[in-house]
Amino acid sequence: MRNFILGIVITILVLLIGGLGLALLGFLPTRANIAPPPIEVHIALSALENSVERHAPRLNNPVPPTDENLIEGLKIYTMNCALCHGGIERQPSTLEKSFYPPPPNLILNPLDDPEWHVFYKVRTGIRYTGMPAWDKTLSESDIWKLTAFLTRVDKLPPAVQDYWKKSSGVNPPTGGEERHGHN
Ligand code: HEC
Repeated sequence: MRNFILGIVITILVLLIGGLGLALLGFLPTRANIAPPPIEVHIALSALENSVERHAPRLNNPVPPTDENLIEGLKIYTMNCALCHGGIERQPSTLEKSFYPPPPNLILNPLDDPEWHVFYKVRTGIRYTGMPAWDKTLSESDIWKLTAFLTRVDKLPPAVQDYWKKSSGVNPPTGGEERHGHN
């Protein structure tokens, strides 16, 4: 039994050192201009969701989803996020295919996650991806406004839909379309 456990420990060490060696010798690819294989996407997204589930505080959004706050959220989104995640004109983002992993289009495929998940990801960023942490750039209340907007992209109240239409010339999505989420 002792030898068996020793065998397992040595195998793990050899694999770890071997993996590290291959990385240091330059065998790992670094290019970001290709799409990750589906199995990698699946594993990475499951790891991300489970980590958020484990680490994020279960907060309620302290900012009420009034027309004014949702419009603020839309404006903050357009200024800071649309470049990577797609704008309210409902087109693919310019940088959609330039990241590994790629940024999801949060307008064409609205999020279907709890608000505390979204708040945590936006505030703290996502390590090993192009998703920045916004806690040093945006205030907590701005991040909550963004969260309110992003979790309601396809069910905004009429006044916010009017604002969207006026500023983009395009109708906002209104439900019935495919949603995106990891639950
Ligand atoms: C420089 C590009 C870039 C900018 C700017 C950016 N993001 Fe991201 N974001 C990414 C990438 C890349 C990912 C994908 C990470 C992954 O696959 O795990 C991501 C992931 C996310 C996710 C997780 C989506 C999911 O599937 O759970 C959310 C939410 C998000 N971003 C919101 C925002 C918000 C809000 C802003 C603006 C304040 C923003 N991002 C700005 C690149 C960006």
